[in-house]
Amino acid sequence: MRECASAPFENECGVGVVRSRNGAIDNHPLHKRLPENFIILQDGAEAMLDQPKLDQTKIEIDTSNIEGTIAPADHTTFTGNRALAIEEGLIFELGRPEVSGVDLPDPKPVANRLGTLERKAPIGLPGLSEPEVLRHYVRLSQKNYAIDTGIFPLGSCTMKHNPRLNERMARLPGFGDIHPLQPQSTVQGALELMREISHWLLTLTGMQAVALSPRAGAHGEACGMMAIKQALIARGETEQRTVVLVPDSAHGTNPATATLVGFTVRSVPARADGIVDVDAVRQALGPDVAAIMLTNPNTCGLFEKNIVEVAEAMHEAGAYFYCDGANFNAIVGRARPGDLGVDAMHINLHKTFSTPHGGGGPGAGPVVLSSRLAPYAPLPLLVEDGSGLKLVEDPAEAPGTFGRLGAFHGQMGMFVRALTYMLSHGADGLHQASEDAVLNANYIRVGLADLMSLPFGNRPCMHEALFDDGWLKNTGVTVLDFAKAMIDEGYHPMTVYFPLVVHGAMLIEPTESESKATLDLFIAALRDLAMAARRGDKERFLGAPHFAPRRRLDETRAARSPVLKWTKPAPVEG
Ligand SMILES: Cc1ncc(COP(=O)(O)O)c(C=O)c1O
Repeated sequence: MRECASAPFENECGVGVVRSRNGAIDNHPLHKRLPENFIILQDGAEAMLDQPKLDQTKIEIDTSNIEGTIAPADHTTFTGNRALAIEEGLIFELGRPEVSGVDLPDPKPVANRLGTLERKAPIGLPGLSEPEVLRHYVRLSQKNYAIDTGIFPLGSCTMKHNPRLNERMARLPGFGDIHPLQPQSTVQGALELMREISHWLLTLTGMQAVALSPRAGAHGEACGMMAIKQALIARGETEQRTVVLVPDSAHGTNPATATLVGFTVRSVPARADGIVDVDAVRQALGPDVAAIMLTNPNTCGLFEKNIVEVAEAMHEAGAYFYCDGANFNAIVGRARPGDLGVDAMHINLHKTFSTPHGGGGPGAGPVVLSSRLAPYAPLPLLVEDGSGLKLVEDPAEAPGTFGRLGAFHGQMGMFVRALTYMLSHGADGLHQASEDAVLNANYIRVGLADLMSLPFGNRPCMHEALFDDGWLKNTGVTVLDFAKAMIDEGYHPMTVYFPLVVHGAMLIEPTESESKATLDLFIAALRDLAMAARRGDKERFLGAPHFAPRRRLDETRAARSPVLKWTKPAPVEG
């Protein structure tokens, strides 16, 4: 082993060196980044480099006296920072127990009433000054990829621009500063806004009733299926109708919801062209079927053109039609689910109406209901009586209702944002938004179709373009490798391996809010990557991401053995 003259702390032997005069660096962030075979030398100890098994030697030194820098394989700076890409430790690693950002008075002495439960050891909270706390969280926030930093092409998730006008409206004191427990007479404006957004949702969907209280798309699914269950109770058919049909391309929340609400799931296959097989639906139908949960446009980005036949078949069999409306953004202003025979549908406000992404809440996933299910809508109901608008919260006043989904009436802030989007676009603007979403997805499809394979042929898609991994065969590059290499290019990857019916699925949803210039650059970057994969430039993919603050994570291990608690590392033995 020898030290390289040109780079004193990175040598050809894979051994790094830190020189110091004395002291310990065990708790210094630098120490944690040292690879196993990294050696810390005291001054004048260079001779030891010739000794065998030196890579097991650990010598304590004082960080304040470190003279050089460490350069393990992927760190080329003393701090580990790369210019503005700051290497940030955990707050527990940064904090010192004796530090506090606030000046608190000494607590008054009180009699100990805790007995043996009294804590003996310090609680171990990290102590930081105010600027340190601020910097910590600002730096963490700067590590995020967000729709405000770039195109977010996640298919099925619809990450689109959140207009700032929405935020301004949501912060108006009349909306932002009110409380759900206020007397209803003092929040008539907010109730009026709820009535107005209900009107828009019913007009755009052609349905009869709306429940605003669900907090997300999946919560909306639960709402719709509970309304169906309640309708079956009213018909005395709950014992008999226990099955819900779910196409095999469905989003995982559909079968999960059906099961949660107490139904059994029966899978329905798709046809070779990616849409649901009406004959298979008819065959799966029987007196035991309560409903179908069908997504339209579906998760392959295709319009279910036989949707009316599916609805008729369901109704003839005495069952209901739940439509997963997550992809309503592709048809809003152009087609009304009520005209297609839908009985219940949730609308993810974050997907279609530009509110911040719910991710399971706190968002909003209103559910629209047909006249068949309207009597079973959840509380609260928004009604007008002689004195103004009011929320009906008492089940005695709404005999058909299945009850409440949660506290209060839903996410007011989301209603304000969504209505702002509706009003600022107008009916013609919403129509154009869905057209642009479809146009952008097709622009991407056409821009990549000669290099990447499409599972259902090169034909028009709706709001998202679906590729498979057929074109990667024999390249040694997987879909995951390709997605990770996109990170190096500065892009959040598309949705991968979903929908499950397509092998090696890559689902790209650009949304209507991206410009042609952004799409052109995105397509060019993907074309460059695709050509690299095809010509066998595996290095670019296998270790990717190469330039992210962290390299590829072991996602299986992270999911199966998550480390959710920080444990103070034991001091290294000398
Ligand atoms: C097709 C589909 N259905 C349901 C959902 C669930 O919506 P949410 O995330 O708002 O709960 C999603 C979310 O991505 C979806 O894509």
